[in-house]
Amino acid sequence: MSFWGDMRVIWRMAFHRGSSSDLKTRLEEFYSGQSADYDSFRKRLLHGRESLMREVGQRLNPGATLLDMGGGTGNNIGELGPHLCKLGRADIVDLCGPLLGVAQARIAKEGWANVHTVEADATKFIPPSGPVDAVTFSYSLTMIPDWFSALEKALANLKPGGILGVVDFYISRKWPTPGRKKHSTFTRGLWPLWFANDNVFPSPDHLPWLDAHLEPIHVEEGMGSIPYVPLLKAPYYIFLGRKK
Ligand SMILES: C[S@@+](CC[C@H](N)C(=O)[O-])C[C@H]1O[C@@H](n2cnc3c(N)ncnc32)[C@H](O)[C@@H]1O
Repeated sequence: MSFWGDMRVIWRMAFHRGSSSDLKTRLEEFYSGQSADYDSFRKRLLHGRESLMREVGQRLNPGATLLDMGGGTGNNIGELGPHLCKLGRADIVDLCGPLLGVAQARIAKEGWANVHTVEADATKFIPPSGPVDAVTFSYSLTMIPDWFSALEKALANLKPGGILGVVDFYISRKWPTPGRKKHSTFTRGLWPLWFANDNVFPSPDHLPWLDAHLEPIHVEEGMGSIPYVPLLKAPYYIFLGRKK
């Protein structure tokens, strides 16, 4: 962690948000000047990623295959820890060249022979070797405008009984499903406005969609701190479900 690295990230978040109507161009405008500092800053902003990957990893058998959609710098693949070496293959799928560059350097440094990067759109990608055992989305669904298509494609790319794991920011519905958290009017109003500046769209609909389309195995709803912003915490969820 470096103070000036953090300042570079905050500067990009404030003034280089990406304004192209093309998603790939927009992502590359946003991330190109912060890719080197991305991991250090996001470690303190994107909560629950370690838990998600641990929960997914411990349910995978030797030789299993995994797609990390919007996988960026490959940080999450590292979070698989001891479970990574048992995987047959893991693909980090992302549209953003600069972040995939960091992932490629990480793969080379760590010597992960079973990990590969793919530059592709999560709403369209079909793995050439067929359906996989697990698909994960870590803070990527909120950046994918057509998130319905991304989830539908993920389900199509999963083997029957395969695992879908998601961690992301969200807000609750005003009247959530019984058993799920209810956020205050302030929380439901603040976070979509806050994150929309950076083309991140916390939704009240991701969790209900996942609940309806998968058999839930593990769900957590938490509040995470924001670097340099005292007092405020942003809601995030972790969802693990099995393809029915
Ligand atoms: C907040 S970052 C999260 C990256 C990584 N999963 C993590 O947890 O650090 C969101 C990621 O989603 C990627 N992304 C956004 N839309 C995408 C799409 N349609 N297809 C593939 N990747 C996409 C971005 O390029 C970026 O890497």
